[in-house]
Amino acid sequence: MKTLGIIGASGHGKVVADIAKKLGYEEIVFFDDNPEVDYCGTYPVVGVTQNIFECNCHAFVAIGNPMVRSRLLEQLEREEKYVPVLVHPSAVVAEDIQLGTGTVVAAGAVINPGARIGKGCIINTCSSVDHDCIVEDYVHVSVGTHVAGTVCIGHHTWVGTGATVSNNVNICANCMIGAGAVVCKDIVEGGTYIGVPAKKK
Ligand SMILES: CC(C)(COP(=O)(O)OP(=O)(O)OC[C@H]1O[C@@H](n2cnc3c(N)ncnc32)[C@H](O)[C@@H]1OP(=O)(O)O)[C@@H](O)C(=O)NCCC(=O)NCCS
Repeated sequence: MKTLGIIGASGHGKVVADIAKKLGYEEIVFFDDNPEVDYCGTYPVVGVTQNIFECNCHAFVAIGNPMVRSRLLEQLEREEKYVPVLVHPSAVVAEDIQLGTGTVVAAGAVINPGARIGKGCIINTCSSVDHDCIVEDYVHVSVGTHVAGTVCIGHHTWVGTGATVSNNVNICANCMIGAGAVVCKDIVEGGTYIGVPAKKK
């Protein structure tokens, strides 16, 4: 049986499980360090995070916090667990793009030609990443966010829901871009940026 173990019994975990089911995983089990959580949607929580290494399954990290996501994905890689790339069948993904290990592309997302998406990224529901963008490792492009062409987003940056990133803009690593922000100039220092145009909070 083709089984996927997912770390993180959260709302995002539920979305990842649904995509994995559509891609042919027959069994989904969750691992979570919160002892009070028994199920994620209809799927059972069968152990804490470290138990995934004893499970005969593929593995995926469904945790929003980019630092935690990177730490766990790197541990899975060190222990040679197989980690898939999950692309929802309704996502529109150009033929020549690159997607790193442990990245999920959710329903309705669009990734246009020439884009390079790193590992452990979340390209969330109905977001878009346009031509020739570079999205580094552990970036989250949130629900309904639009990233125009030739943008570079540094590792561990989280672009909040409904934000817009104008073309040719660079956003450095370790930023939080607030919901609804419009980024139209380069961001060169990590931190939280909100508003239209986006300014440091
Ligand atoms: C930017 C953000 C990280 C700030 O969080 P925070 O530090 O906890 O900020 P607070 O909620 O304490 O708000 C502080 C102030 O900033 C304002 N603010 C917060 N987020 C804002 C945003 N995105 N745009 C404009 N103003 C914002 C609040 O209204 C508040 O204003 P006030 O002091 O006048 O009342 C958060 O609000 C945000 O936008 N998160 C993104 C969530 C998201 O996109 N999730 C994606 C799920 S897929």
